[in-house]
Amino acid sequence: MAGPAVSRLQHLALEVSDMDKSIAFYRDFLGMKLSERHESGEVAQIPVALTFMRLGGVHHDLVLVHNPNKTYRQRPADPREDIDGIPAFHHYAFECPTRQDFLDTLEHAQNIGLEVVRGPVVHSPWDPRGDGSWGENESFYVLDPDNHRIEIFCDMATIDKDGTYVNAQGDRIEAAKAAET
Ligand SMILES: [Fe+2]
Repeated sequence: MAGPAVSRLQHLALEVSDMDKSIAFYRDFLGMKLSERHESGEVAQIPVALTFMRLGGVHHDLVLVHNPNKTYRQRPADPREDIDGIPAFHHYAFECPTRQDFLDTLEHAQNIGLEVVRGPVVHSPWDPRGDGSWGENESFYVLDPDNHRIEIFCDMATIDKDGTYVNAQGDRIEAAKAAET
C-alpha cells in the first residue's frame, strides 16, 4: 500500500478582524498581490469572506478569512500574555531566497514604520552567531494588524539523509543531528 506522498506545507488561511486593513498590510509589507476577493455567502457553502493573495506566480500563498458573524478579540502582542483561549498558532514564516533579500526586507519593514518585535537573530546553538535558540535560520519578527506573529527568515539549514545538519554555506555540522532520520 502506498504511503503519504505530500511534498511541502504551502498556504495558510489566516483569520483577520478587518479585511481591508489586512490586505493593505500584506501588500505594503510583502508586496503581495490580490488574486481573488469574495464576500461571505457568495456561494452557499462558504459563510466567510475569503481573500486569496500571492507572492509570485502561484494562485495563492496566503488566504485571509473573515467571519462577519464573529466577535473578534485582539490577540495579545506578547505571546507570554496569550494564556487563555483556543489552541491557535504561534507564528508563521516567509522565506527570503538570500541573506541580502532578508536584509532588504528588514530595511523595508523599518522604512514603513513596522516594529521589529524580535531579531534579527540567528536561531542556532551551533552557529557562532547563534543565540542558542533552535530552528537553524536567521530571522526577524513583526506583527500584522491582528497581532499575528510573522517571521521573516533566510539561510535555513538542511538535513542530510543520515540526520546531520548542513548549514546554509553547505558545511555539515557533525555534532548536530535530527531527532529522527
Ligand atoms: Fe519559526
